[in-house]
Amino acid sequence: MITAIFDVRDISDDFEQLNERLIQAADILAAGGTVAFPTETVYGLGANALDPEAVAKIYEAKGRPSDNPLIVHIASEDQLAGIVREVPEKARKIMAKWWPGPISIIMKKDPRIPDRVTAGLDTVAVRMPVNPEARALLSRCGCPVAAPSANLSGKPSPTRPEHVLHDLEGRVDGIVLGRNCDVGIESTVIDLSVEPPVILRPGIVTAEDLEALIGEVRVASNNGKTESVPKAPGMKYTHYAPEAPLILYRGEADSLWQAIRERAEAERAAGRRIGLMLSSEHLNAAREAFGNDPGCRIHDFGSAKDPKQAAQCIFDILRTLDREGVDLILGETFEEAGVGFSVMNRLLKAASDVITV
Ligand code: TXA
Ligand code: MG
Repeated sequence: MITAIFDVRDISDDFEQLNERLIQAADILAAGGTVAFPTETVYGLGANALDPEAVAKIYEAKGRPSDNPLIVHIASEDQLAGIVREVPEKARKIMAKWWPGPISIIMKKDPRIPDRVTAGLDTVAVRMPVNPEARALLSRCGCPVAAPSANLSGKPSPTRPEHVLHDLEGRVDGIVLGRNCDVGIESTVIDLSVEPPVILRPGIVTAEDLEALIGEVRVASNNGKTESVPKAPGMKYTHYAPEAPLILYRGEADSLWQAIRERAEAERAAGRRIGLMLSSEHLNAAREAFGNDPGCRIHDFGSAKDPKQAAQCIFDILRTLDREGVDLILGETFEEAGVGFSVMNRLLKAASDVITV
């Protein structure tokens, strides 16, 4: 399949020019094709949500299990009428505060949304992204757009245009090459079809943020067990794990670095190539210890005090480590609170072991 490329990186802040240059991409969507595009969270792979055959092409291109439902993306709240049966009061509050933005809301679905989109569930997840590229495309194509993350199933979500090219060129009808994703982890998914509402996937909008706005919410814990909460269908699939085992270290900053360093030295002595995922706070020490060693790849995920930085780069680092072909990855962890909880959610899914020091 020949993939049409729409490179808008030179004009990504000019809404009028964007509209102009994305007309053809919008036409592809309207005609039942698939187009990958940037959002503020991760790149998505879109198709007309009202066209079951178009939606089937998404599953095909990604190699995604067909019982994992998709999020429907819209450009304006007027579109909700044909997507959900009713908009609960709590949804109105969330929309007023965070839309357009990185949160998806699950509500009871309208019969016009095909089963292919929701995998047969009677609920549907809806989101209004804020990226200008996404908004231009979604408003122009004239239909709601079902879009999972634009990676091959089992790979980390794409946060840069080159990730999408790598995974999907030749497998989809179009790719919009835009900016790197600001948020870097997928949207928060909150289920408002149940009471109290349940966060099915933590994101940059946190449980703390949501509780402050709508009162009690339930959260599935990050350790794989849930607090008697139904799982998002997507949670049962093996998530991305890097080619090399990822071992996470939990503990206090100093002893944590100590433990990682000792393990790294032992692994290097045994001739294994390693990757380190560290906070900026330990970067200098790591460079002093391993900076001249080509068998040790050092990656900085930003300050341990600011998990938003890690959210932004975590998937890119995991993809880079795969390319670098290391044998083992040692990574620092975050305090599981606020955005740190959401980053840890993704890291724990990728990890093969967690060591507490
Ligand atoms: O940030 C994002 O949400 C990105 C961008 C492209 O918008 N999209 C994304 O889609 O991450 P995807 O398909 O990779 O993840 C959607 C998650 C899955 O875990 C899925 O199971 C869950 O949302 N989900 C979707 N509809 C649902 C529903 N009706 N009930 C429960 N879970 C649902
Ligand atoms: Mg995904």
